[in-house]
Formats: sequence, C-alpha cells, structure tokens
Amino acid sequence: MPGPEEFVVTPYEVKGRIDYERLREQFGTQSLTPELLARIHHLAGGELPPALRRGIYYSHRDLGPLLDGYAHGTPFFLYSGRGPSGPLHTSHLLQFDLCQWFQRRLDLPMYIQITDDEKFWARSGLTREETAHWGYENLYDILAVGFDPKKTRVFFDSRSIAAMYPLAIRVARKIPYSTVKAVFGFEPSQNIGLVFYTALQTVPCFWPSWAEDRTIPCLIPCGIDQDPHFRVTRDIAEGLGYPKPALLHSQMLPGLLGEGTMSTTGDRADNSLFLNDPPEVVDRKVRNAFTGGRATVEEQRRLGATPEICSIWAQWRTRFAESEEKFEEITRDCRSGALLCGECKSQLLERIHAFYDHHAIAREKVKDWAESAIITGAPKDL
Ligand code: TRP
Repeated sequence: MPGPEEFVVTPYEVKGRIDYERLREQFGTQSLTPELLARIHHLAGGELPPALRRGIYYSHRDLGPLLDGYAHGTPFFLYSGRGPSGPLHTSHLLQFDLCQWFQRRLDLPMYIQITDDEKFWARSGLTREETAHWGYENLYDILAVGFDPKKTRVFFDSRSIAAMYPLAIRVARKIPYSTVKAVFGFEPSQNIGLVFYTALQTVPCFWPSWAEDRTIPCLIPCGIDQDPHFRVTRDIAEGLGYPKPALLHSQMLPGLLGEGTMSTTGDRADNSLFLNDPPEVVDRKVRNAFTGGRATVEEQRRLGATPEICSIWAQWRTRFAESEEKFEEITRDCRSGALLCGECKSQLLERIHAFYDHHAIAREKVKDWAESAIITGAPKDL
C-alpha cells in the first residue's frame, strides 16, 4: 500500500492522492502552457472548451511540432479509446468531448478504439459477453457526443482484429517483454493477454499512415494514466517508419464521493453519474455527493465553503458550467458563503438533466451508422 504522500498511476491501477506536477515529472511529459493553449485557440478559432480553459488537460507530448505541422498544411488525425468494463459515466466523455471539438474545428478524422479484449483480460470478473455488450453500449455514448459520421471510424478490437493484425505483428516484434514488465509492473501470474495488448493499443497510432501509404501525424487526448502505453509506442515508432504520436493528458477526475482519486475507483456506483442512470438516481447521487461545505448553514454563510475539495464544483468545472462567467460566479459565491450547497446542487442538476435529455436523443440517432463505422477489413494484405 502506498503511504499518504505516495501514489501509483498506471493504465491498470490508480491509487493514492495524485500530485499531478510530480506525476508529470516522473513520466517526463511537458506542461501544457498558456502559449500552447493560445496557439490552439488561434488555429481552431472560437472559444477553447472548458477542459482546456480550466486546466483539466495539463500535460502533453510533442504538441508544439504537431501544431506547427498543421499550421504549415499537414493535418493530423485524432485517436482515443475506451476499455468497456461497464456503463460510461459523465467523466468518461472528457477525452471524447475534446476530440469532437478538434474534429469540428479543424475538420479532422477521428479513430475510436473499443478494447473489449483488454477489459476481458484485465478484469477477471467480466465475461466475454459483458465486455462485448458494454463495447457497443459505450460506443453509442461516445459517438453521441457529436462525431461526424463521414470522418469517424472505430476499431472494435475483437471485430477489427483482421484489419489491425498486419500492423500488430510488426509492432509486437519491437517490444521486448522486459519493457512491458517494467512499464506496467506486471507480476509473473499476469495472463499473457495483457502482455500483448499494448501492441493493439499502438496499432491505431500508425494505422492511417500504413493504410494510406503516407505519413499522417496522430494526436491522442487521454487520461494521463494511459501515457505508459504510448511511451512504448513512441519508442518504437521511428523504427517502424511512423511518426511518434503526440499526446494531450488530462488529470483523472474525482468521483462524487470525494476521495480525490479516480471517478472509476472501486465498484461504488454512487461515486459516478452513469449515462444510463434514470433521473431519480442522478438526483439522489448529486444530493448525496461530497461537497466542500461547512457543518451548518450559519457557518457556511460566515466562513464560506471550499470549492477545490468539492465533487460538485468538479462537475461544474469539467463540463457543466457553460461559460467562464458562470464558472467564476459559482466559484466566487461558493467561497464567499453566498451560495449554499443545496442551491448549487439544484442549479447543477438542471444542467445535468438537460444534458441527459439531449444525450438520449443523440444516442438513438448514432445507432443508424455505428455499425458501418467499425473497421473490419485490412486495407492491404501485408
Ligand atoms: N486502455 C484504455 C482503457 O482502458 C482504452 C484505450 C484504447 C484508449 N486506446 C486508447 C484510451 C487510446 C485512450 C487513448 O480505457
């Protein structure tokens, strides 16, 4: 067990209270500076999305050269993915929201990977039927954030393997077992599925270049816990003749129970707002959520509350505050004691319900094209 100051972040384990600056230094990634944000703003036009403006994405690899390339006429593609271990919750949409924003602003192709194999290997409690089932359910939720059907394609691992395998073969030959063992911290008892798996998460980074016989740069928005996979990818990229993917890393979002770790931690369903939760369950979870409020109304009016530790404030911050003005108002009034937690939760719930209503409609519509987005055939034999 890590001590109070220690934390562990790998794709398969997140624990402890994460010091994000220290993590960035440990991982050796760069800080997402105001200058880089300004360049994104300049290229994309319009306002930056909340997750970029409010520091939730905070780290990157090679974003500068990627943006230089774009500015000089070399477009890139977007890639992100999801391991389907259960229903999606609102925080899982973070990386896909950002991809959708980039796609719409810069007119870019998007590749989504659904890793029903990975989750079967990683979670001994799940059956194949379950990981496949959640794969489709998650895919509908992801596409419903507004991806362009003409520019969005899906690797659904168990179904897309024929299309991925010619590249996976090459990738796997470049990765020594010692690397995988060191990077992911696997024990000898680990099943061999996950030992191979990192090759499959690498394939989409190179696939468009391979399929089209030209160099196409890749940008991966993801949680920083996924960085270890892509360190492996980046180490082998040039040896295979492909560009190293660029990355944009987000912090792991806190859950509603407020333990400051990941929203997916454990099986405590009340820690997250699942996209398939009915309205009354959403209400209950928000009403019971951990806040930064005081013990009594009187104290809170007098001393104010603490947004930084509040799980409700985290929801406003990541997506539900529609403007900077609203976000600043909530933050200020919370701190001063002008806004009490009950009222703050009511205002948030209005927005969450509106989002769920909108999402439910969008989700039905994508079912018309989701199947045709799944890549099944290899573009060439070798
Ligand atoms: N391994 C990821 C997960 O467990 C799924 C994934 C596959 C992914 N490819 C990705 C995540 C690319 C981010 C970017 O959820």
